[in-house]
Amino acid sequence: MSEMQQDVQQEHQQYIAPLGDWTRTHSCGALRAEDSGRDVCLMGWVQFRRDHGGLIFVDLRDREGLTQIVFSPEIAPKAHENAHILRSEYVLAIQGKVRPRPEGMTNPGMATGAIEVVVHDWKLLNTSKTPPFLIDDRSEINENVRLTYRYLDLRRPSMAANFILRHKAAQAVRSYMDENGFLDVETPILTKSTPEGARDYLVPSRVNQGQFYALPQSPQIFKQILMVAGLERYYQIVRCFRDEDLRADRQPEFTQIDIEMSFVDENKVMTMAEGLMARILKETKGIDLPLPFPRMTYDQAMAEYGLDKPDTRFDLRLKDVTDIVRGSNFRLFSTAPLVKAMKVPGGESLTRKEIDDFTDFVKIYGAQGLAWIKVRPDEWQSPIAKFFTEEERAALQKALDLQIGDIVFFQAGEPGMVNAALGNLRVHLGKRLKLIPEGRYNFLWVTDFPLFEYSEEEKRFVACHHPFTSPAVGHLERIALDPGSVKARAYDMVLNGFEVGGGSIRNHSAAVQRQMFEALGFSKEEYEAQFGHLIQALEFGAPPHGGIAFGLDRLVMLLAGADSIRDVIAFPKTQKATCLLTQAPSVVANKQLRELGIRLREELVAEGNS
Ligand code: AMO
Repeated sequence: MSEMQQDVQQEHQQYIAPLGDWTRTHSCGALRAEDSGRDVCLMGWVQFRRDHGGLIFVDLRDREGLTQIVFSPEIAPKAHENAHILRSEYVLAIQGKVRPRPEGMTNPGMATGAIEVVVHDWKLLNTSKTPPFLIDDRSEINENVRLTYRYLDLRRPSMAANFILRHKAAQAVRSYMDENGFLDVETPILTKSTPEGARDYLVPSRVNQGQFYALPQSPQIFKQILMVAGLERYYQIVRCFRDEDLRADRQPEFTQIDIEMSFVDENKVMTMAEGLMARILKETKGIDLPLPFPRMTYDQAMAEYGLDKPDTRFDLRLKDVTDIVRGSNFRLFSTAPLVKAMKVPGGESLTRKEIDDFTDFVKIYGAQGLAWIKVRPDEWQSPIAKFFTEEERAALQKALDLQIGDIVFFQAGEPGMVNAALGNLRVHLGKRLKLIPEGRYNFLWVTDFPLFEYSEEEKRFVACHHPFTSPAVGHLERIALDPGSVKARAYDMVLNGFEVGGGSIRNHSAAVQRQMFEALGFSKEEYEAQFGHLIQALEFGAPPHGGIAFGLDRLVMLLAGADSIRDVIAFPKTQKATCLLTQAPSVVANKQLRELGIRLREELVAEGNS
């Protein structure tokens, strides 16, 4: 802020008046033509001020919208007298009369665009520094600046709308869960580390030096124990903490709608969850969702979409062509464990540059390159066409139902890489080629997940969902023999290509739970030390139970049409897990560390930690 602006703001402080007994009658988004003639009191922030041949116009903003107010020297000369001092983001209370806007001056793009309020009296409640960005939805603002001045960012209408939507979603959850007999029970935040695939946030204990609490990655074990405790139906809108790599749809602390039910199978949990989604969509968007949601097995999702969270709003599919190209002269194809193709109708017009960009894109997923064929009227244009015999061409033509104007992308290699590369390319193409229709909410279930997946990093099987998930009926015996083939009683809910929820039927038998830990490579000592409290509880008459948890932030992000969950979290962290508003994390005083029995490494002290 320049010195001059600062002087002006300081000078204007003499106009600040106490609120007194003024009571606002309407929000700034409420008044309509029918309200003409009413005496009203509005309060909010000055969006901007325009001086027009004696009249002074101000757009007054609060979280509900904008109302045009007018200071008229003819109608209310005293109110007009000092109105020229008003600046953007000054806080203002006005009393005045609603009138229709003059012919030709109405604004159909604005909810209150039919009226204006003629000010009879006003109070300046506060001045404001000049904000570092314009508080509107048109300006492109650097996200770091937005997060530093989050209180200004949240004043923007689109952000306020996101939080109104989030509130409505949470309200819908609470009323639906209550109507269905669920109890809202809180679970500890300072707890014991229960690995769910991410790193824990640890909290040192002062009273028990050298020992640590962990912040919960989810209340998974507690909600199961609540079922053993006989509470039967539990839910909680709860904060979870995971120290993992951040992306647009991930935050280190995020909110789950966490649910657990006793005496149920997967269909009962899924039906209840569908009803919950239907209620949320109805309350937030006025949409009637068709129920039940479609279901797809994990195997089908991976085969056709390459990902376990298929975006079914557009139609591109992956096809396994390994057998067709097995004998080809193209060594990469003839030797790869898996070769998959994805046809893009009309994609023949893609330029070389675009294809190069897609090639760079798939490299993120470990691909070496991206093979392609353009189907031209007279030929296949492609760097790899020469490797195929007439028969192979005909077989590809048939299997992929190739038409003139198509392009086909191929990926060959290990299944994990092939699916990730083509599956993510599919989503990328959906966006780039504008194949995704607006305003669609495609929910579906993905079912029959594997119970285990092999971790190359850890050189052992890890739980696909979490270690408390029950194996599919009849699959128990296979755990020791062929863990990779065991299916789980787990289900994910997917919305428009995002995993919005996941859950499972749990092991309510202590013996099966022990067997699971053993299959995951835990020694008896290890699993007793980490999970003994759960196993012991299971031994005291645990009912069959299962549940699900939804990512509330993710869900609201999709409903709001936002690109990042940061836009639906009031005070989110950056990609580097920092809070720009509070500057957390920060160094702490030596005394605090001493109390915890912690000493920092020399080099950290040198870097400015006390
Ligand atoms: P899961 O780990 O699948 O399951 O999490 C449930 C849902 O939470 C959301 N989610 C996240 N959202 C934002 N940022 C994150 N870092 C993040 N991680 C997960 C996703 C996900 O679908 N205890 C089990 C649930 C159960 O079995 O009942 C669990 O936490 O939308």
